[in-house]
This record gives sequence, C-alpha cells and structure tokens, in this order.
Amino acid sequence: MNSSAESLRGARLLGRRHAGGWSSRMAFILAAAGSAVGLGNVWKFPYIAGEYGGGAFVLVYLACIGLIGLPILAAEIMIGRRGGGSPIHSFESLAAREGHSKNWRVIGWIGIGCAFLILSFYSVVAGWSLSYLWFVVDGQIAAAGSESHDVALAMGDLFANLLASPAALLAGHTLIMGITMLIVAGGIRSGLERAVCWMVPGLFLLLIALVVYAAATTGRFTSAITFLFKPDFSALSWEAVLVALGHAFFTLSVGMTAMMAYGSYLKRHVSIGKASFAIAGLDTLVALLAGLAIFPIVFAQGLEPGAGPGLIFVTLPIAFTEVPGGSLVAMLFFLFLAIAALSSTISILEPVVEYLEQRRAWTRPKATTVMGTSIWMLGISSVLAFNVAADVTVFGMNLFDFLDFVTSNLLLPLGGLLIAIYAGHVLSREALADELGLGESRLLEIWRFLLRYLTPVGVGAVLIYNLI
Ligand code: PFF
Repeated sequence: MNSSAESLRGARLLGRRHAGGWSSRMAFILAAAGSAVGLGNVWKFPYIAGEYGGGAFVLVYLACIGLIGLPILAAEIMIGRRGGGSPIHSFESLAAREGHSKNWRVIGWIGIGCAFLILSFYSVVAGWSLSYLWFVVDGQIAAAGSESHDVALAMGDLFANLLASPAALLAGHTLIMGITMLIVAGGIRSGLERAVCWMVPGLFLLLIALVVYAAATTGRFTSAITFLFKPDFSALSWEAVLVALGHAFFTLSVGMTAMMAYGSYLKRHVSIGKASFAIAGLDTLVALLAGLAIFPIVFAQGLEPGAGPGLIFVTLPIAFTEVPGGSLVAMLFFLFLAIAALSSTISILEPVVEYLEQRRAWTRPKATTVMGTSIWMLGISSVLAFNVAADVTVFGMNLFDFLDFVTSNLLLPLGGLLIAIYAGHVLSREALADELGLGESRLLEIWRFLLRYLTPVGVGAVLIYNLI
C-alpha cells in the first residue's frame, strides 16, 4: 500500500475509533508516562529493593530498564502505530502488509491474559491508597501519630488491620475498578487525557517535597543513599535478577501490549525513540525519588527495609504525622497515588477493550463492562489472600503473590522476549528505521542489536534458569 493510501486508512481507523487519537505529542507522552508511573514505582520498587538488599538489586534493575525495557518499549509503541489497531489486529495487519506469519498475534493473546491477571491484583493495591485517603480524613493516621509512643508500631497495626478486613479491601478494589471502567468506557480523549495531564506533574512534585523532608529531618539520608546505590553483589541472587528484570517490564508497562495499544493512537510525526526515552526516564526518576523519600524514614524509625508490601503504607504516614500541615500533604499524596494507579489501570484495561471492540464489534461500554466485571471478580481472590484465604497457597505463595509472580516474573518477560524477537528479527530494518524516526543513525543500530541479541539471550537465560 502506498503511503497516502496508508495514512488515509490510518486516519479512517483512528477517526472511527477515537476521534483522532492523541491530541498532541505531549498528551501521548503524559498518558504513556501515566501508564508507566504508578504503584510499580511508589509501592513496589521500594519494597522489592528493600527485600532484595538494595544497591546491587537497584543496579541490575537500572541495567534492565536501559538495555532491555527501553528498547522493548520503543518496539511496542512502534508495532502499535504501524499496525494501527488493537495489539492482535496490529500483528494481523502487519502480517498482511509485511508478508510474515499471522501467528505472531499470540503476543497479543499473552498480553490480554496478562492484563486480565495484573489488573485483578493491581486494583486491590490501588484500593489501599483510597483506604489511606479515608484514614487521613477520619483522623486515624493523626491518631496513630499522636496517641502512641511507638508511631511505627501504630502505623504497622493500621496497615495490618486494613489487610485483615475483606470488606475494606473489597470496597477499595470495587471503587478502583468502577472508576477505571467509567474512564475506559468514555473513550481515549475524553476520559484519559484530562485525568493524566495534571496528575503526573502533581505526584512528581509531592515526591520531591517528601525527599526534601526526609533529607532535612531524619538524619538518615546518607544511609538511604548508601543502601540504594552502593552495590553489594554478594547479596545478589538469581531470584533477585529475575525480580529486577520482571519489575523493569512491570514498571515500564511493557511485555503485555499496553504500550502497543497506546501506540496505535499515536500520530506519525512523533519520534518514538525520543518519546520512549522521555517515558523511561521519568518512570525511573519517580521510582528513585520514592526510594529516597522512604528509606531515610525506614532507617530513622528502625524499620526493616525488607518488611514487604506494606513498606510505604507504614513509613510515609509517619512523615505525614510529623510535618506541619501533614494531613493535607497526606491527603494529596494518597490522592495522587490513587490517580497514578488509575492512569495505569486504564492502560491495562485498554488493550482488552480495544480488542473486543474491533473483533467482536462490541460497543465500548459493553466490552468495558464485561471485561471489567470479570477482572473485578478475579480480584476478589487477591482481597481474600490477605485474610480469610491467607492459608491457601499455590507453589508456596498466597494467591496475591502468585498472581504477581506469574505476571511480573514470567508472562511479562515472555511477552517482552517475543516482542523483541519480532521487532528485531521479523520486521524489516527499513520498517524499523522508518517508524522509529531515528534515520540511519548509530542509535538505530544499537537499538536493533539490543533487541536482536541482548534481550533474547538475557531474558531467555534468566527465565530458563528460574524455571528450572
Ligand atoms: N507500570 C505500572 C506501574 O508501574 O504501576 C503497572 C502496569 C501498567 C503494568 C500497565 C503493566 C501495564 F500494562
């Protein structure tokens, strides 16, 4: 197909689907960054960095972001834009156009399955930030700060009580899924753009303020820097490498075609290479800021860095009870965290809905309702994993940990591996050069090398090692 016919077809597709795609390059970057920045950065990164010993883990994580995650991120956006449809459709239309097998659409299927599983537990954690928002409003956080001699213990109890209550967890999970479904059903421009344009900068500024607070008042800022950035390789295990790799995928939202779906709304003149750098850079910065805000408090309060998923919910409220105007700061923080989580949940549901809309010709509201409700039901297993079903284990993990493990550590890396092989070995070099907007540059060669060789060997080796 020649290029004008192609762009006409693209315009028609976009026009029908989403009233013109993203309104600007900035809107796309903000929405993609909104997908990347979320609980993965603020909740998960600090707690797994703490569990796996800090420095060496962080270094491996940063290497995974730069050498594996970033090239795959660009590949996903590129495949999405070139294919111009839902991930599965994109692979099909590329197969017809570039003359390769349609079977690569299996990547889209893995993505849909993965989206289903991730959203089910992600929404439960996002619900925790709504619960904490409530704890600020009804004074429980302030009370824990003022009435007890041991603030850290009181905050720990508050978190434990939340997890012990299926009703409270279910309420948060239901609210998050409900809001996600409303936004997704509203279509790309009306729902999404408005929400993300102010929340990414807002969360960012708050985190900087918290880092400044931690640096100025705890007296343990240097301990935190040493913990996060001084590698001790003797503490590094293969499991830690797998977790760092899986988290690089999770935090960048790659490996499950979410970025592919977003890419399909992206206009042609935007440079995918530059946009990917911006998204990955911002995402990494937010994670490191979260670490720098949390660990000084962890050390100052004598808490365990490896305390697990409750880490931010136990540490940051301590800061909120001590700063002037802490309740307001706390409210803003949990609100922004919830919105950051929502801009991610939306992007997880999007590819699934986009697919049903196109394949089954379902209306957007119908596709959203059916899939959203099914995911909500699956999420109940994660709700119960913290209380009544805490003893139910699969391969030694509770249901929540199991879903997290299977998606972050197996399915996302597997999806990413296939995407790298596809972009590196199946798509032509010309298609890549054309789509990435990098011209015949050295950067293109490096990018292709990483996709063709480093990613398949690196990700393959880690996956096989860990599976065995
Ligand atoms: N990147 C999001 C986070 O770090 O919170 C989580 C996520 C969003 C994972 C979208 C996967 C995805 F497709």
